[in-house]
Amino acid sequence: MAAGLSIGDLAARTGLAVSAIRFYETHGIVAPLRNAGGHRRYGRADIRRLSFVMAAQKLGFSLDEIADHLRGLPAHKAPSKADWTRISKGFRRKIDARIAALTDLRDKLDGCIGCGCLSLQSCALYNPADVKSAEGTGPRNLTGLDG
Ligand code: FES
Repeated sequence: MAAGLSIGDLAARTGLAVSAIRFYETHGIVAPLRNAGGHRRYGRADIRRLSFVMAAQKLGFSLDEIADHLRGLPAHKAPSKADWTRISKGFRRKIDARIAALTDLRDKLDGCIGCGCLSLQSCALYNPADVKSAEGTGPRNLTGLDG
C-alpha cells in the first residue's frame, strides 16, 4: 500500500477544494500514487507544490506556464532546495521581463492618456517602435480582405 496523504488530507493542508486538487492533477501539477484500494495518495512535497501554484497564479502566471516549470522537479520525491532555486530563477526572469514591459508601457502611457489619437506615426501604444512600418506601406491591418 502506498503511504501518503489522502486527497482530503491534502485539501485540509492546502485550503484547496478536493475538486481543485483533481483539476491540478489533470494539468500535471501533482501526480498521486494509488494505494491497494485504488485511492490517491499524495506526498508531503505536494503541499509545497500546490502552495507554489497558488502563489504563482497570484503573480499572474497561467497554469500551463506553472506546469511547465514544475516538470523540472522530481515527480515522487521531495524537491531539494537546489530544485526550488532553479524553478524560482525561471520565474524571476519572467517577472523581471514583465516588470520591464510594464515600466515601458507606463512611461509611454503618459502621452496617450487623454489623447486617444492612436496615430500610426506617433503613438507608442498603438504602434510601438513603429512595427507597422516593417509590414510595408498601405492599410496593413486590412490585408485579410484581399485574400
Ligand atoms: S493615443 Fe495619441 S499618442 Fe497614443
